[in-house]
Amino acid sequence: MTDNRLKVLIPEERIEARVAELGREIRERMGDGPITCIGVLKGSFVFMADLVRAIGGEVRCEFLGVSSYHGGTRSTGVVRITEDLRHPIEDQDCLIVEDIVDTGLTMDYLLRMLAVRGPRSVRVCTLLDKPAHREIDLDIDFVGFQIPDEFVVGYGLDLGEFYRNLPYIAVYTP
Ligand code: IMP
Repeated sequence: MTDNRLKVLIPEERIEARVAELGREIRERMGDGPITCIGVLKGSFVFMADLVRAIGGEVRCEFLGVSSYHGGTRSTGVVRITEDLRHPIEDQDCLIVEDIVDTGLTMDYLLRMLAVRGPRSVRVCTLLDKPAHREIDLDIDFVGFQIPDEFVVGYGLDLGEFYRNLPYIAVYTP
């Protein structure tokens, strides 16, 4: 089935290769101990599943439900927590796993929210970094790909809840 609103930006093989590299980079920099991976739902669920296997070793999987978009292609800047972590993260080395950082508002909010829970460290891994509209200066520890100022879907990223199941990242043009 072809959808002419979609144009492949990052094919499946490139994602696969980069996720494997990210897993190695994360272990190199975070060491061999347990890592608490915190996937930001819903967008990161596909990336999270591949990344935790690439990281290997002792990994805890936690999820945070966050909603910052309401079916459109523009950030509202309002972050709503729809599901909290199930366990405390005190004294743990944490890695926030995000699909895309755009304005940075969501990540900034999450970093401040998690900091007060006493983790030993919090690092950030995003599959995609779209710096064109960054409003907050963030330190992102691990970036899969920097992308241009386009609205993208696939590999977990949606438009109105669709396209998350595409195995590649595509630019969406209505
Ligand atoms: P930020 O708060 O502006 O950094 O936006 C972060 C969130 O916006 C991400 O977790 C995504 O859910 C969503 N988002 C930003 N850009 C895109 C895009 O190009 N496609 C799909 N979702 C996006």
